[in-house]
Amino acid sequence: MSQTSPQQIEYNLKVVRQFAIMTVIWGIIGMALGVWIAAQLIWPELNFDTPWLTYSRLRPLHTNAVIFAFGTSALMGTSFYIVQKTCRTRLFSDKLAAFVFWSWQTVIVLAVITLPLGLTSSKEYAELEWPIDILIALSWIAYVMVFFGTLVKRRTSHIYVANWFYGGFIITIAVLHIVNSMVLPVSLTKSYSVYAGAVDAMVQWWYGHNAVGFLLTAGFLGMMYYFVPKQAERPVYSYRLSVVHFWALIGLYIWAGPHHLHYTALPDWAQSLGMVMSVILFVPSWGGMINGIMTLSGAWHKLKTDPILRFLIVSLSFYGMSTFEGPMMAIKSVNALSHYTDWTIGHVHSGALGWVAMITIGSLYYLIPRLWGQTQMHSVRWINIHFWLHTIGVVLYIVALWISGVMQGLMWRAVNAEDGTLTYSFVESVEASYPFWFIRFVGGLFIVTGMILMAVNCYRTIRAGKPTVETINVAPREAATHSA
Ligand code: HEM
Ligand code: HEM
Repeated sequence: MSQTSPQQIEYNLKVVRQFAIMTVIWGIIGMALGVWIAAQLIWPELNFDTPWLTYSRLRPLHTNAVIFAFGTSALMGTSFYIVQKTCRTRLFSDKLAAFVFWSWQTVIVLAVITLPLGLTSSKEYAELEWPIDILIALSWIAYVMVFFGTLVKRRTSHIYVANWFYGGFIITIAVLHIVNSMVLPVSLTKSYSVYAGAVDAMVQWWYGHNAVGFLLTAGFLGMMYYFVPKQAERPVYSYRLSVVHFWALIGLYIWAGPHHLHYTALPDWAQSLGMVMSVILFVPSWGGMINGIMTLSGAWHKLKTDPILRFLIVSLSFYGMSTFEGPMMAIKSVNALSHYTDWTIGHVHSGALGWVAMITIGSLYYLIPRLWGQTQMHSVRWINIHFWLHTIGVVLYIVALWISGVMQGLMWRAVNAEDGTLTYSFVESVEASYPFWFIRFVGGLFIVTGMILMAVNCYRTIRAGKPTVETINVAPREAATHSA
């Protein structure tokens, strides 16, 4: 390396800022849609007799908005930030990074238009029709190029573990999306899957489960491995454990999909394999949780005063809870009770609202002031209020649905001893669920109120600052090869 005086190259923070803002906006929209459909389950007239406002169309809009708009924008933004900082280099290509941002937002806008119109492939979490699927594939390939291109031109000798998790998530989602979206188009807005019957179901849940495993889990673990040590100002508890649990997690997750298809036409051995792999998956999942929480060793007192750290650490507790619950629900005899009930929805949201949303919110509170030249958010007190609104909301949501879920399962299987007929009709189980759906609705209101408070806090922080210009010193020859 040249010994001449250093020059500077600038990080590309523009695209990170764009994704950060959109994460907050999509978070509010996606979660408000969740509250709306929660309300529709209690007051069905809230569809206003309008086809595009019916539950069946707004539900996939909610899942797409929270997973692909809110969650994925957060993952794309934070991965672009972390890969630059930990590799001490600018993004591989500014143009491609801008393409990733704009193409991804276009995908989401198209989802917002087509799903309410009823245009859907009807595959859960892969509802978008084939022209949008092609745009997703192009956007994702650009994402692969920017992320891995940046890793290749890194100026550090090793690759920090957060990038391993992001890298695993990015490659796997590319493969899952392309394989599961194989269709025969019959028109611009209608297509049929190339797979049939049980094979179609298997491919779909191989996709569906690994969307959970890699997008909603591995990607967010990457976020955790950067922001928890940063906010706690402590090194990762065990670097070795992080590497071991990375390989164990990605090795096991990919086999667990059949637990979504227990007692179906799928061969029994495949169901049992999915069950066993899911149960073993508990071990690396808890390895990750313990590693994150123990990073706080010697800094536990900070939890008293730092609401950002509280968001991050409580998210890990929810991660631990949902990855204990998931393996249990994957056991066939337990699944016989839980499947089709609210228990599944409670499990989903303990992962989605407890783990995914809280780790994202905590990370954004760390990141946003730093992206706009501030040392902290406009109001730390508001972060604290947000923390309590969110935590109370999540607890109301999941506890209510655990109770209603187990109740539904027990009501459906109850039989009269004398003649073996069903004790309860289905409608009776729906009626009994109303109080719990109301509690979920109230929990949702708490959560969305917290998100709106976050948006105002972000707005004030951004208005008080100006976009950060952050540089690193490099030798002149190197500076010339990095387009700034
Ligand atoms: C205010 C917050 C939220 C509320 C009130 C809410 C509400 C709902 C409701 C009512 C359903 C439909 C349940 C059913 O059909 O029985 C649902 C489904 C779902 N939500 Fe949410 N949600 C919220 C936030 C989130 C977030 C942040 C995520 C993900 C990051 C998420 C992911 C999902 C998923 C994946 C499903 C489908 C579950 C399944 O099919 O098993 N939700 N949500
Ligand atoms: C070790 C980890 C986990 C295992 C073994 C696991 C297992 C399961 C099982 C058995 C089901 C019910 C399947 C059914 O009866 O249809 C399920 C549903 C689900 N889980 Fe998990 N889970 C895990 C972690 C998570 C996490 C961390 C999240 C979210 C961040 C999550 C999100 C979901 C979603 C979205 C569904 C609903 C899928 C659907 O039917 O639409 N899971 N999981």
